[in-house]
Amino acid sequence: MTTTTATSSDLLHMDKPLRAFYQFFLDLIVFALKSIYFILESLYYTILPDRFRKLKNISGQVVLITGGGGGVGRLIALNFAKLEARIVIWDINQEAIKTTIDLLAKHGYHNCKGYVVDISDREQVYQRAAQVTEEVGHVDILINNAGIVCCKPFWELHDRVIQNTYNINIISHYWTVKAFLPYMMRHNRGHIVTVSSVTGMLGTYGCSDYAATKYATIGFHESLLTDLKTHGYDQVHMSLICPSYINTGMFSGVKPRLQTMLEPQYVADRIEDAVRRNEVWCVLPNSIRLLTPLKCFLPAKMCWELMSRVIRGPESMMMFQGRGRVAAG
Ligand SMILES: *[C@@H]1O[C@H](CO)[C@@H](O)[C@H](O)[C@H]1NC(C)=O
Repeated sequence: MTTTTATSSDLLHMDKPLRAFYQFFLDLIVFALKSIYFILESLYYTILPDRFRKLKNISGQVVLITGGGGGVGRLIALNFAKLEARIVIWDINQEAIKTTIDLLAKHGYHNCKGYVVDISDREQVYQRAAQVTEEVGHVDILINNAGIVCCKPFWELHDRVIQNTYNINIISHYWTVKAFLPYMMRHNRGHIVTVSSVTGMLGTYGCSDYAATKYATIGFHESLLTDLKTHGYDQVHMSLICPSYINTGMFSGVKPRLQTMLEPQYVADRIEDAVRRNEVWCVLPNSIRLLTPLKCFLPAKMCWELMSRVIRGPESMMMFQGRGRVAAG
């Protein structure tokens, strides 16, 4: 009897190169078919209004936000409190923590606990993580939001500043994720949000330390996601958030020529959406998604001309007077 579909025994009888080729061909067909589905699914979700969509139920879950005392972190805390989550905020600044807790209380949400943590200190992260698990419960959603920026040309950066930027903007992600991921893996459930930046997709004036750490967060997000998916942890979700300039103290003074600064509330809302829709990659504003790949195929001199003459990137960064230590962006 002849069949057109190959059985495993047919495959076994083929010689090796032919079998490899056949397998590759099959993989391509499956890929093509699934791709059609994924593109249609993506289009469907793009045009479907949120109210017709099943969003993740956050009620009762523990949401931990690093840098939760800062501008965007505080609004993320409020957004998730409104979804009846139990909020844990980490910040290095006790006063900032108190401001967030007071803000939530003012809106009638009292399920919020704050911890003073220096996330650049590994042992302190582990110790506070154990404390949170004991006092509040296991963390279901981890939002790695804390970050600092100094914004000076390379030759003006102190060694200490460079190291601190790395410790806070990327190395700390290893410690927080190490502390909270094992529980998520045990239950194949949870969500890790990595707050990166458009500067993680495109280097910027005065950001040789900052941009490099933000590039690192993208590598971290993509690789950890690959690890999790490859080993079957398909319900531990990850979202990467790449905002451009946010209108908080962090980038105060900066006046981009061709775009408006993002409002912190908009960024917090999009982070909430990303979690509830299990979005993998969220660029703010979304239009920048189309611009960044240009650097891969336009002549380098043309890219520089675009950046310096049209967008006036360096010029806008030179107006920076930020306060240095705040969350996000
Ligand atoms: C959301 O989850 C909570 C806690 O698990 C549950 O009590 C509530 O009924 C859920 N809400 C919806 C709309 O499914």
